[in-house]
Amino acid sequence: MVKVITIDGPAGAGKSTVAKAVAERLKFSYLDTGAMYRALTLKAMQNQVDLEDESQLVDLAGKTRIDLEYTSGGVKVLLDGQDVSQDIRSIDVTNNTFYIARAPRVRELMVKWQQAIGAEKSIVTEGRDQGTVVFPQAAYKFYLDADVQERCKRRIEELQAAGKDVDAKKLTEELKQRDQNDLTRSAGPLKKADDACFIDSTYLSVDDVVEKIIAYL
Ligand code: DC
Repeated sequence: MVKVITIDGPAGAGKSTVAKAVAERLKFSYLDTGAMYRALTLKAMQNQVDLEDESQLVDLAGKTRIDLEYTSGGVKVLLDGQDVSQDIRSIDVTNNTFYIARAPRVRELMVKWQQAIGAEKSIVTEGRDQGTVVFPQAAYKFYLDADVQERCKRRIEELQAAGKDVDAKKLTEELKQRDQNDLTRSAGPLKKADDACFIDSTYLSVDDVVEKIIAYL
């Protein structure tokens, strides 16, 4: 029987790194649902689709294929067969994803795609609505959070390590805006499932969080 483990939480809480590590330990697949929202945002931007027009976004989603391939180096994201793994991490895509994320009919499609993946193999999936909307019957659920200043610090360090110039003040504002967008949208908002285990990672390393999750499981 396939099993689903969900990890939800805000941007920068460490979900991806933790989810990947837990999946590896359990020999489960890892599902990065944010990458799906990002890939569709990229396609909408490339095709100059009006991001405020939900019908156009639904139409576009219906003509889109997103595949996630997991390699030891991370996740390879294929948008209609093209590798867009790097492009979907751009600041423009990051800041525009909320248009796709707030569109209820686009979310419905995303939810179906994600449920189809979770139906065929055991996964550790991370996002905002995995424990609440997509997999309410998941075997185990976690909600990973951290203080906003700590989340910003981690993002800044991550970007600097990748050799990118960072405007710390701007990044902090953008992250707070993303929190606000994630928490307040009516469809699939960021929310801890009632039966999710809450982990505050502010003072924990990635390994600490992974060990906590494994111990809980
Ligand atoms: O986790 P991430 O930063 O890659 O997510 C990118 C965006 O996608 C983020 O702004 C919120 C949205 N998202 C969502 O609405 N629901 C999900 N399950 C995952 C991500």
